[in-house]
Amino acid sequence: MSFEPQKINGKFKGKDIISLDQFSPKDIAILFKLTKKMKKIAYNARPSSILAGKIVTLLFYEPSSRTFGSFGASVKQLGGQTVDILNPQVFSSVSKGESLEDTIRVFEAYSDAIVIRHPVAGTAKIAAATAKHVPIINAGDGIGEHPTQTLLDLCTIEEKDGKLDNLTGVMVGDLLNGRTVHSLLRGLSLYKNNTVYLLSPNELKLSKEDHQKFSSLGVKLIEIESDKNIPKNADFWYWTRVQKERLKSLENYESLKNKFIVTKDLVEKKAGKKTIIMHPLPRVGEIDPVIDDDPRAVYLSAQVRNGMYVRMALLSLILKGS
Ligand code: NCD
Repeated sequence: MSFEPQKINGKFKGKDIISLDQFSPKDIAILFKLTKKMKKIAYNARPSSILAGKIVTLLFYEPSSRTFGSFGASVKQLGGQTVDILNPQVFSSVSKGESLEDTIRVFEAYSDAIVIRHPVAGTAKIAAATAKHVPIINAGDGIGEHPTQTLLDLCTIEEKDGKLDNLTGVMVGDLLNGRTVHSLLRGLSLYKNNTVYLLSPNELKLSKEDHQKFSSLGVKLIEIESDKNIPKNADFWYWTRVQKERLKSLENYESLKNKFIVTKDLVEKKAGKKTIIMHPLPRVGEIDPVIDDDPRAVYLSAQVRNGMYVRMALLSLILKGS
């Protein structure tokens, strides 16, 4: 397929959001400036009509809580409306054999943008190549990318660390299949001098191709074998779950899950006063709930909230241009 999503290059209006590759640090700065305004709109419960008259289709072929919930809330915070198509394989004409292409052409007739989540990597790009009139936003395509998750992750890191360069991070879990990891490594590579320590079961290491690709983009990657090798006082920890739905069997999943867990002991030994503890969620045992009230834990607070503010800003920029 020859279609490539356009670079943002300071102009968001009408653009598809498929990959972090489309962004520059300047684009991200524009987004985060507006995100601060959106936070005020949401926080003060001031009615907004920024998206009045706009309809966004949320087309989710895979389960979702935060991405679906926050996109829906974002549209509504800004006075717009959504068409919610959850599980189209069961509840739409997809169950009768309708193709992705036809599905996209239909929902673009009803709405001003389509947010799509799909189990197959590359599908968001196909949807963007198919849609003739409306922008497509990738809400997670298989093991590919999850760009809006990365935008909220970067927003959270910048909020807490005050910068997005010269960072030392630790990424743990399913680095082979985790799309949030793949997008975040792309995102971190846009800034200078970032180093990420990678910790995963052997079978779930970042693929060789991804390792090479991200390294060549500029982020320094260091593989470690044990949580004993986590550097002290990193700027952030980014824990992820083993992606059960991408593995070949339940036994395979059971043998790989929860090899590395954030415990009080690990936090005491390795985290610094300013290390933030992140997780895209859902967590399924990777973080001991005793950590939840630690002020450094942001996975159930800042990270979740920023998801809505960043998506409000992104939708406003894509649909209104400001
Ligand atoms: C992630 C996803 O769906 O990729 N969740 C999310 O959107 N916050 C992470 C995951 O499912 O593990």
